[in-house]
Amino acid sequence: LMADSLFIINNYAREYFTDTLFNKEEGQNVGLSYFEERGFTEETIKKFQLGYCLNTFDAFAKSALNKGYNLEYLQKTGLVTIRNDQPADNYRGRVIFPIHNQSGKILGFGARILVKSDRAPKYINSPENEIYVKSRVLYGTYFARHAIDKLNECLLVEGYTDVISLHQAGVENVVASSGTSLTQDQLRLIKKYTNNLTILYDGDSAGVKAALRGLDMAIEEGLNVKLVLLPDKEDPDSYVQKIGAEAFREFIKDNKQDFVLFKLQLSMQEAGTDSNKKSQLVNEIAETISKIDKAEDFTRQQDYIRQCSQLLHIDEQGLIQLVNKFIR
Ligand code: UTP
Ligand code: MN
Ligand code: MN
Ligand code: MN
Ligand code: MN
Repeated sequence: LMADSLFIINNYAREYFTDTLFNKEEGQNVGLSYFEERGFTEETIKKFQLGYCLNTFDAFAKSALNKGYNLEYLQKTGLVTIRNDQPADNYRGRVIFPIHNQSGKILGFGARILVKSDRAPKYINSPENEIYVKSRVLYGTYFARHAIDKLNECLLVEGYTDVISLHQAGVENVVASSGTSLTQDQLRLIKKYTNNLTILYDGDSAGVKAALRGLDMAIEEGLNVKLVLLPDKEDPDSYVQKIGAEAFREFIKDNKQDFVLFKLQLSMQEAGTDSNKKSQLVNEIAETISKIDKAEDFTRQQDYIRQCSQLLHIDEQGLIQLVNKFIR
């Protein structure tokens, strides 16, 4: 089967790239020291099966073809491309982050450039194929699922390195959207483990705006959504490396806020004294509240109605009626 072949090739590549990282001179000097400079311990590097792809034209491609792997399949995984009519390594000179499925098999890779450049993207990710469908994958689920289950909460971050640094800091119930806005499939994946989703984004990031757009969808899926805003210019990785594991865990605890109420307060700031904008936002918040499944969580809907009407200085009964309009 095609899917099996792709898994086998990805697993071969993963072994090849880890071997390069630990046992080849360039792997150690360039790849391993990069991870060490970022504060990743050897244990962490091994746990996440991080690797390095040599900065050569085709060292990996040659090795895989010698092994007998099919060129067409190698191209499908994105590991090999054709350059000047020759099979070439697509991730050369980059550090490698394998992307695991829920049972630990490798769906694809993120490959990060070492030095920021205007000419090349920071990350090259596997192309979509029979096994890697971006909208269905959350990075880190394989490593997070037990902790999510145990703590009954899933933290959501943007990037690979955020997941990895948080694990190293003892925060293991964390997955990453890998820089895209949340999809329904991803929300359903989270819902399999918990109803409680906490989003950790930086305050001015496009990620927060994207998350706001996904809020109604998350609520419709029956998720309880909380938000932790990080200080400007920080992501979870940079911030935990800066302040340390214990302070970071305290920070999350102290700064967790309800996402519906956050959205309301944000729109209230934007609306200011404009009464048109204000009635529009009342409608929007009523629609959001209406998405909460009453049968499943009646008191939660009532709580929101009470808190929102207080924040908005409007009559509770009026808001109830508006919410009911959206339900019909
Ligand atoms: P970021 O730009 O925040 O990167 O993108 P990062 O995760 O903090 O990585 P470091 O710390 O600079 O190494 C967040 C996520 O968006 C995706 C990746 O999944 C990344 O982890 N992304 C970003 C891409 O797929 N391609 C890109 O070029 C950039
Ligand atoms: Mn970002
Ligand atoms: Mn920022
Ligand atoms: Mn980031
Ligand atoms: Mn980062």
